[in-house]
Amino acid sequence: MGCSGSKPATKARTEAASGSSITAAPDIDITSLEKAQTLQHELAKGDEKAKEEERQDSRRMTSSGFMSDLGSDRAAFTSAFVVNHAGRKAVAELEKRYDTTGGTVLGRGACGSVVAVRQRETNELFAMKVVALETVGGTMEELKKEIEIQRTLDHPNICKIFETYEDQKHGEMYIIMELCTGGALVSRMKNHRHGYGEAAAATIVEKILSSIIYCHHHGIVHRDIKLDNLIYENEAEEAELKLIDFGFACEIASGREAMWDQLGTPSYMAPELWSSRPEYDSSVDMWAIGVVTYMLLSGKRPFHDDNKREKARMIKHDALRFPDHEWKGVSKEAKDFCCQMMQKQPKDRLSATAAKDHPWIKMASTIHKGEDIAVEMQRHNEVVASLQAFSEADDLKKLALEVIAFATPPSKLEELRGVFVKMDADDSGTISRAEFRNAMSLCDDVPAERVEQMYSQMDVDGSGEVDYTEFLSATLSAQKHSNASIMNAFTTLDTDGDGYITNMDIQQSLAGQMSQSAIKEMLEVATGSRDGKVSFQDFKRIVLSGLKSESKDVGSLNVAIAEMSMHPGRLSRVEPSSPTKDEDEPPRSPKSPPPADKKAAPAAPADKKAASAAPAADKKAAPAAPADKKAASAPPADKKVASAAPADKKAAPAAPADKKAASAAPADKKAAPAAPADKVMTDPKAAGEPSLEKKEPTQYL
Ligand SMILES: Nc1ncnc2c1ncn2[C@@H]1O[C@H](COP(=O)(O)OP(=O)(O)O)[C@@H](O)[C@H]1O
Ligand SMILES: [Mg+2]
Repeated sequence: MGCSGSKPATKARTEAASGSSITAAPDIDITSLEKAQTLQHELAKGDEKAKEEERQDSRRMTSSGFMSDLGSDRAAFTSAFVVNHAGRKAVAELEKRYDTTGGTVLGRGACGSVVAVRQRETNELFAMKVVALETVGGTMEELKKEIEIQRTLDHPNICKIFETYEDQKHGEMYIIMELCTGGALVSRMKNHRHGYGEAAAATIVEKILSSIIYCHHHGIVHRDIKLDNLIYENEAEEAELKLIDFGFACEIASGREAMWDQLGTPSYMAPELWSSRPEYDSSVDMWAIGVVTYMLLSGKRPFHDDNKREKARMIKHDALRFPDHEWKGVSKEAKDFCCQMMQKQPKDRLSATAAKDHPWIKMASTIHKGEDIAVEMQRHNEVVASLQAFSEADDLKKLALEVIAFATPPSKLEELRGVFVKMDADDSGTISRAEFRNAMSLCDDVPAERVEQMYSQMDVDGSGEVDYTEFLSATLSAQKHSNASIMNAFTTLDTDGDGYITNMDIQQSLAGQMSQSAIKEMLEVATGSRDGKVSFQDFKRIVLSGLKSESKDVGSLNVAIAEMSMHPGRLSRVEPSSPTKDEDEPPRSPKSPPPADKKAAPAAPADKKAASAAPAADKKAAPAAPADKKAASAPPADKKVASAAPADKKAAPAAPADKKAASAAPADKKAAPAAPADKVMTDPKAAGEPSLEKKEPTQYL
C-alpha cells in the first residue's frame, strides 16, 4: 500500500464549520420577528466562530503549509519548583543530599550517563543524568537548555525533573529526575519481535500524542522522538510510559515556526531534514511518531539501509510499504495512520491534535475506553470530597498541597493519574472546564454552580486549563498528611530557614510568579495578623484544617507521604496582566544559612519563552564547536554550515559507550536497556550492529 496526500483534518474541520453556519439553518416556519432575530443572531455567531477558526488556522499554518499545534501556553505551574543549585558549593550539596556512588547505571546516551541515586534523607531513589560539556560541547548556558525546557512541562507522560546541580568548574550539569525502572520501549520490543497488538500499540501512540500535543501547545518541539526516548515507570506490563531526553528540544514562538538545525536520529528523521539546507517545523515530531507507530506494529523500521545515503534516499523518495510478512492481519486504519503521519510533504501530515482523532486511535486505543469518567467520579466520592475541600481551603494550604503533590513520586499517585487521564478527553494534558463539568455531571450532590467554583479554584491562574499537578494537589486536600510531609513543605517554603514563612520567602521560592499583593493577602489570611509571619504550628494547623477526624486516603491510594522528598513550591502565578516589579528582580540572598538543599539560588525566572523565541536561540541543537554555534544561530543563508559541520556530537556518540552502560548495570538489567536496543529491529541487516540509529552521524552528507 502506498501513500497519497491527505488533507489535514483541521482544515477539513474549518471548511465544515464555515459551511455549517449557512447550510445548517433549521428548516422551521419563522412566524415571529423575535424568532427570526434569534436565528439571525445564531447564524452570525456561527459565522463568527467559523471566522475565528479560520483566523486561528491561518495563524497555525507554517510556511510549509502544515497545520501546526504550536502554541505559547505558559510554563507549567510546577516550573518554579525545580531548583537549580549553582555556585561553588553545588557539588558538595549534591553529595550531601544524594548518595551518588555505586548507583546502577540506568542507561548511557550521547550526552553522558544516567544513574540511580539515593536521597539520603528519605532513602528514595531518583535518576540522575550527568551532562558534560566535554561530551556535548558548547557552553554551560547551552547545556542548561535541556533543563530549562523540561522543567516547564507538567504532564503524566513526560519524565519529571526535580532539581538540578551545576558544576561550573568541570562544566557539568546533574539533573535529578523521577526514576523509571521499567526500561525503554525499545527494550520491551524484544518481547514483541513481530510488533505489538493494535490495541497496545494505539494506546502507546495515544500517550505519545498527548505528551506531544502538550509540548507543542507550550511551543516546544522535541525533535528526537524514538523508541529509546520512551521509558516505562516500572517493570509492570501496564506501567506508565514517559517521554525523556529533551536534549534536542527547541522552544519556539508560534507564528515564527521554523527551525534549521539538521539533527535527530536518522531512522526517525523526516525527509525535509535530509536536505543540506533544511527548513522545517514541528511536523518533524509527527513524522517520528509515525516511525514509532510503524515499528511498534511491525518490529521493523519503515526505511532502512546500512548505507546512510541510501537510507536518506529511501526516506525522501520511497513510498511507505507494508510487506505482508509483517503487516498481514494489521487493520487498514493502522496502515492509514502510519501513512498520514509519514507524509513526505509536511503540509500533508496530521498534527498531534488531528492524529489523536484518527479512526485508528479512536478504534484501537484503550485510554478512553471502559467506564465513563462521569460514572467513575460518581464512584470516587473521596476524590470529589477532596476537590470540594480544596476549593474551600486557604491559599496557603493550597500552596502546601502543591508542594506536596510535586514532591510525591509520580508512581505513588497512579490511581489519581488514571482519573486525570480519563478526564482529559481531548488528550491535551490539561483539564478544561468542559471536561471537568462532564466528569462531574453524575455527581448529583454537587450542584452545577459548585462544580464551576471547584474548577475556578483549581485553575488558579484563570488560564482555562488545569495542569496535572494542580489537579493532583486538589485531590490530595482531604488527605491526612504526616508531620514529616508537612515539615517538608514548611522547610521548602521557609526559604531562608529562619523558622517562619514570610513574604520574602514566598517571593524567593516562587521566583516572582505570584504577585506581591496575593502573597501578602495569603499570609495575612493565614495568620490573622498584618505581619504575616507563619510559624510551623500555624502552618500545620492550616494544612490539617478542614479535615474530618477520620479522613480517608484518596480512593484506594495509600500515598506514602512520609517517604516523600521535598522540593520548593509555589501556588498561583502572577496574573498575566499585572506583572510585578519583583519579577525582574534577582532572587534575594538568604538571611541566614538555609538547609543544604536550599542554599543555592532558586529556579531561574520561569518565563524563558521570550528569551528563546527566535530560531537562533536553539543553541542546544548545535552544541559542539564554536563554529557550529555560529552556524546554528546564523540566518538561513548560513544554514549549510550548520548542517554540514560534523559537530553534533550528541547525535554521533561512540558505540562502545552504550555497551559499557549495559554491562555496568548487572543489578538491574531491565533498567539498562540502551545497548541491545537495535537488535529489537528484526531487520536482518540491522542484526549484529552495536546500536540503534542514534549512533549514526546526523551530518551524513
Ligand atoms: N529518568 C530515568 N529513569 C531511568 N532511566 C533513564 C531515565 N532517563 C534516562 N534514562 C536512561 O538513560 C538513557 C539515556 O538518557 P537520555 O536522556 O536519553 O540521554 P541522551 O541525551 O544522552 O540520549 C535512556 O535511553 C534511558 O535508558
Ligand atoms: Mg536519549
